[in-house]
Amino acid sequence: MIILGIESSCDDTAAAVLDRGGGVLSSVVSSQVSFHAPYGGVVPEIAARHHLEFTEPIVHRALAEAGRGLEQIEGIAVTCGPGLVGSLLVGLSVARGLALSRNIPVVGVNHLEGHIMSGWLERPELPFPALALVVSGGHTALWLASAPGDYRQIARTRDDAAGEAFDKVAKLLGLAYPGGPVIDRLAPLGTVSGAMFGEVRIKGELAFSFSGYKTAARAHMEKTGLKPLRHPDEEPPPGMLDMIASFRYAVVRELMRRTRTALEREKPAALVLAGGVAANSLLREEMAALAACAGLPLSIPAFRFCADNAAMIALAGRRRLLAGKDDLDTLDAVAALPLGGPEALRTSRRHL
Ligand code: KG4
Ligand code: ZN
Repeated sequence: MIILGIESSCDDTAAAVLDRGGGVLSSVVSSQVSFHAPYGGVVPEIAARHHLEFTEPIVHRALAEAGRGLEQIEGIAVTCGPGLVGSLLVGLSVARGLALSRNIPVVGVNHLEGHIMSGWLERPELPFPALALVVSGGHTALWLASAPGDYRQIARTRDDAAGEAFDKVAKLLGLAYPGGPVIDRLAPLGTVSGAMFGEVRIKGELAFSFSGYKTAARAHMEKTGLKPLRHPDEEPPPGMLDMIASFRYAVVRELMRRTRTALEREKPAALVLAGGVAANSLLREEMAALAACAGLPLSIPAFRFCADNAAMIALAGRRRLLAGKDDLDTLDAVAALPLGGPEALRTSRRHL
């Protein structure tokens, strides 16, 4: 089945085409970063407006790059949650319209299933069960994928997502948005102090927490008199570089500590690192070292498949499309869509 994927859950408008074997023929992403940068975060109204403008042109570009016409598409997979409802509705409306006009099936995909399955986009042979660390600006969680469609959450963040922590601390320092890539680039220029951001203590459950680092960053700035940059292009002083290096170290230490515990407990056959924060060079090194030490295959998708994209949505929807499913009558935008169990739980709140 030739599948068109559509993703519009947050601030990226994306479309992709998969060939009959599940290979990626095209994957086009229109990033809105420059529109949200002045606000230091995603503004939902701006995101929805840009999706309205860009979804159809991006779909056409994905088809053109794949060398396929709309008449050759045999199924559509579209993100139905979690995400910003206004943004999700745009992708869903376009997908629904195309499915109706072409008389082809359309399935709703959980965005998180997309991120998990991105580990198989370039490595379809990766074995199950796999432990997937999904780290982005909106989500931070460990998932055990026992089979395609069968996911169990092992740990999640109690507060901020890791990417959100990178973005917020960067904002405190007056660095450019999004903060993750900037912090990652500057961190090697500073010296790590393991004590500057202490280890997070959470009793009982396996969970992440990042909001304390933001508070610690603010406290450190107050204590040392470190001022934010007046302009994002300004060169950071040595004290700031040390803080940046220590902060990146602490976030990665927190992510790896829980991943190690989950690995020992769940004994998976493979590891996956996905989501925008998977671009972090220290995190990639640490995951590679962990995989080597455990003797497990590790899949870290290419950056264009780690960050939000529609190829991962198409791959995640493929299983249900091949099984003959069609969600046309129940497709719904759900802001907080849960994922888990042998079949993703689909709550139906509102019909388009
Ligand atoms: O998956 P993504 O593109 O969008 C969603 O949040 O869904 O992830 C974006 C996040 C941002 O918070 C950004 O700061 C972070 O990924 N990020 C990074 C790096 N590159 C992007 N964080 C740390 N290190 C990086 N190299
Ligand atoms: Zn995402």
